[in-house]
Amino acid sequence: MAIERTLTIIKPDAVATGHVGDVIKILESNKLAIVAARMVYLSKQQAEGFYAVHRGKPFFESLTKFMSSGPALVMVLEGENAIARLREIMGATNPANAAPGTIRKLYASSIERNAIHGSDAPETAAFEISYFFPGIELIPVSSLPCG
Ligand code: CMP
Repeated sequence: MAIERTLTIIKPDAVATGHVGDVIKILESNKLAIVAARMVYLSKQQAEGFYAVHRGKPFFESLTKFMSSGPALVMVLEGENAIARLREIMGATNPANAAPGTIRKLYASSIERNAIHGSDAPETAAFEISYFFPGIELIPVSSLPCG
C-alpha cells in the first residue's frame, strides 16, 4: 500500500455551518494525518485558478462564486492510499447519491455546496498541493499520531 498525499478543502458551506471539527474528526479517525493547513478566503480569481480544469463547464461560474463566498480550510492529508480513501469517506459529489455516514451525506446541501473537496488522482493532488502550499516543506507523517 502506498503512502500518498492529497489535498482537501473544507468548503465555505461546511465552515459557515460549524462543521470543521466534525469533518476533521472523520478524517483523523480514518487515518488521514493533517500535514499542512491554511484557513483561506479565496478571491474569485484564486477559485478560478484552482478549478481551471472545470473552466467552460456550466457550473464553473457559480462554483467559483461559491468557493470565494467565505472562509474555507485547506489541508494536505497523508496516509495509506490517501487519495482514494479520502474520496471514499467524502462520498459522491452529489449528496443525494452519497452513502450513509459519508461527509457529504452528513454535511452537504447540494451538488455545488457539497462541504468538501478532495483531489481525484496523484497528478491532480500534486497540482492542488502546490497551488496552496508552494515550496513548503511538509511535516513527515511518521511524526504524527495517525502515521
Ligand atoms: P469538487 O469535488 O470540489 O470538484 C468540482 C466541484 O464542482 C464539485 O466538487 C462540486 O462542488 C461542483 N460540481 C460538480 N458538478 C456539478 C454540477 N453538475 N452542478 C454544480 N456544481 C457541480
